[in-house]
Amino acid sequence: MKKQSILLTGASRGIGAQLVERLAHLGYDLVLVARNEEALSKRAEAIKTKYPQVQITILACDLSQRTSLDQLLVRLDTLEIDIVIHNAGVDAFQTFESSDLGDLERNLYLNLTAPILITRKLISKWLIKNEGLVISMSSLAGLFPTPFGSHYSASKSGLWAFTQALGIEYAHTNLKFVSIHPGFVNGDGMHEAHKKIAGSAPIFLGGTTTQDVIKTIEKALTSKKPDAIYVANRFSIKPLLMITHLLPSLGRWLGSKLMKNYLSKIAYHSEDQHKQ
Ligand SMILES: NC(=O)c1ccc[n+]([C@@H]2O[C@H](COP(=O)([O-])OP(=O)(O)OC[C@H]3O[C@@H](n4cnc5c(N)ncnc54)[C@H](OP(=O)(O)O)[C@@H]3O)[C@@H](O)[C@H]2O)c1
Repeated sequence: MKKQSILLTGASRGIGAQLVERLAHLGYDLVLVARNEEALSKRAEAIKTKYPQVQITILACDLSQRTSLDQLLVRLDTLEIDIVIHNAGVDAFQTFESSDLGDLERNLYLNLTAPILITRKLISKWLIKNEGLVISMSSLAGLFPTPFGSHYSASKSGLWAFTQALGIEYAHTNLKFVSIHPGFVNGDGMHEAHKKIAGSAPIFLGGTTTQDVIKTIEKALTSKKPDAIYVANRFSIKPLLMITHLLPSLGRWLGSKLMKNYLSKIAYHSEDQHKQ
């Protein structure tokens, strides 16, 4: 069988950096994207030593900037990509009134606009060969309105809607579109950084691990008929999801009781840091 090539954004650290190892082990060729070129190179060297058969290309790019993204899109014309994993993202919990307009714009660009433009670039070729897979790393914050992370939540919700809408639009083809929704991830990534400020997320909010997220992505990659949505979380979230959408007032009350206190600690800490 022909080797497949994966474009993975956010491969320099966090969950993405751990995922690189697993993808190489599974035999995929890799195109790795992030801003930190040095970290990408180190990662690529380590992988090449362990898995010499894996072809790795690194592309340093700031996905929150139009000009930088444009250069990446031009480069994609010269590469054969079979699968994209939109993993790069930023959260930034803070009170909405304290958020900087430029930061808001860049974060939305990174979390939502860049995945849309990259997918648009890939899809024409994919429709010709009638094959392709989009895996979008959304979040539980994309399924539940998240206080102090309103624009993060909005971007992840947008990423979910974008991915699912394409799944419906191209249902008659062999192209596949999957969104992944992890809860708070223990092990690597942004939640680990937040834990230093606010401690672990309360047990009733659930949570997951880097390894579970990677296993979930592997399921989406290797299944002939992947699910449209995968949730990586200790608890089933279906009841909460139904309440949020069918009874929004109750959903809001629950959101306030379950999440607000914990996320406010991260938000107020980041505001204090900005003031200093
Ligand atoms: N960790 C969690 O608890 C959790 C829960 C739910 C969903 N998620 C989602 O999972 C994904 C990975 O999260 P993570 O926790 O691994 O985050 P992380 O540790 O903060 O890593 C983020 C990755 O994105 C890249 N990135 C950030 N800004 C970028 C930019 N402007 N241009 C290009 N690349 C950029 C970073 O590389 P550079 O800095 O080198 O650019 C890094 O490789 C995100 O989409 C996140 O929303 C995470």
